[in-house]
Amino acid sequence: MSRDLYIPPRMTPRPKIFAALALLLCSIAVAGACGSQGVQVSKTDPYYRGAVLFRDHCSGCHTLSSVGAQGSATSIKDRLRTNGPNFNVRKENEEQVLYAIRNGGFSGAIMPENIVVGDDAKAIAAFLAKYSGVKSEKVPTVETTQ
Ligand code: HEC
Repeated sequence: MSRDLYIPPRMTPRPKIFAALALLLCSIAVAGACGSQGVQVSKTDPYYRGAVLFRDHCSGCHTLSSVGAQGSATSIKDRLRTNGPNFNVRKENEEQVLYAIRNGGFSGAIMPENIVVGDDAKAIAAFLAKYSGVKSEKVPTVETTQ
């Protein structure tokens, strides 16, 4: 055995790698939990399905406390480009939500388009129209007609 290749057992780097890996996995689990602290909409609520879908597909980038979503920026300093509007304060109607889902927000540049489609998109739109903007004092929405 060549002396250069011999590594004494106590100095093998493995335990450190495992410790670092374990730490990394833990922090991923914690970070992953941030966006979903639970749906507070009752299971018997007709909008429950939309709430769960919103939590699963939209909460990474949007805030909405009725589903425990905290994806929007909380301060201008830690704002990321993907932070979408906060739906606690922003009121949406169904048409606006469907438009945003199909086109990827309004600019189409940041939010991915068609994250959900068909009935799922409609369920989210109906849910969001009902539950968004609950913390805004005045509802600054303009009804669109078709
Ligand atoms: C990758 C992050 C991301 C995800 C995931 C995401 N959004 Fe967005 N969303 C954004 C951003 C960023 C904007 C602002 C877009 C712009 O400026 O064009 C936005 C804008 C919107 C708007 C327009 C809001 C307004 O009034 O201007 C709606 C409605 C919306 N999103 C709904 C949803 C729904 C519903 C989902 C889940 C199906 C979703 N978003 C998933 C990032 C995201």
